[in-house]
Amino acid sequence: MIVPWRDRRGRLLPFKAAVLAAVPIPGILTAFWWTQSELGARPVTEAIHEIGLWAVRFLMIALAVTPLRAALDWGKLLLVRRMLGLTALAYASIHLTLYAVQQNGRLLFVASEIVHRFYLTIGFVTLLGLIALGVTSTDAAIRRMGRGWKRLHRLAYPLGVLALLHYFIQSKAKVSEPVFVAGLFVWMMLWRLLPASWQRSLLVYLPLSVLSGLAAAGIEFGWYAVTTHIDPWRVLAANETLRYGLRPAHYVVMTTFGLALVIAGRRLWVWRQRFVQLRGRQDRPNVPHEVASPVRSLR
Ligand code: HEM
Repeated sequence: MIVPWRDRRGRLLPFKAAVLAAVPIPGILTAFWWTQSELGARPVTEAIHEIGLWAVRFLMIALAVTPLRAALDWGKLLLVRRMLGLTALAYASIHLTLYAVQQNGRLLFVASEIVHRFYLTIGFVTLLGLIALGVTSTDAAIRRMGRGWKRLHRLAYPLGVLALLHYFIQSKAKVSEPVFVAGLFVWMMLWRLLPASWQRSLLVYLPLSVLSGLAAAGIEFGWYAVTTHIDPWRVLAANETLRYGLRPAHYVVMTTFGLALVIAGRRLWVWRQRFVQLRGRQDRPNVPHEVASPVRSLR
């Protein structure tokens, strides 16, 4: 029998097993807090929020796999992309179920709310999209659909935009976390627009960080301008000083720049390993040295 934590030959895949064990934790913790009455006076509403947040987070993490795999040169990440996407679907489905529970199981009322409330309609369309990606994520579907599979699964990016929009609308004027997530999403989209030969180059990560930070500040400005009576220029100006604490755009720059440092660190480490290997072979002249140039990995 094929299980997710083993490959086709039955060998254990520890990384995949660890991720599989980790993804249900936010849901289990939410259920545990509920049983301990730690979700406040409206536990169902709190659980809807918590599970919805994790649906968006897992969707974003699934979308981050491709850029991170390329940037970190870490092939194993691909092993868990499908699992992360399915996790986002599972959390989004529980989120909808909890909403139905909150409405005392009145499914017709739930359906009419989804039709009449714009942000629920967006959430529903996102969920339908995730279901379409989920049911076509089996090996058999990938084989059967050929190139069409890739085209269909590109839908994951517009679904990311819809999920963020649903998140923004329901967050109203408290949009710090959605702005932060949107900034990281912009970083991923900009990375994808780069020519393939630039995607691994460390030189592009600094401009990418700055651009995604600016985009986060711009999105925040636009949101306040269009949906609230709060002066958007004052919100924008808060990004120029640290007097009001760190703004979401600052966190976007810090996170993406931190990622660039991790990538640089990993490449230096790989370079050092190769250098040590090369030195070892030179000290033993009879061993053929068929070692790749260490400098290549430092690009
Ligand atoms: C039929 C589908 C959906 C329905 C009916 C639904 C319903 C809701 C409701 C009722 C809320 C709380 C609103 C409030 O208390 O004011 C909410 C919030 C949220 N939903 Fe959905 N949703 C759906 C789909 C999705 C999907 C697919 C995602 C993500 C992939 C998602 C992510 C979120 C997030 C992140 C929040 C905000 C959580 C927070 O700010 O704490 N939802 N949704």
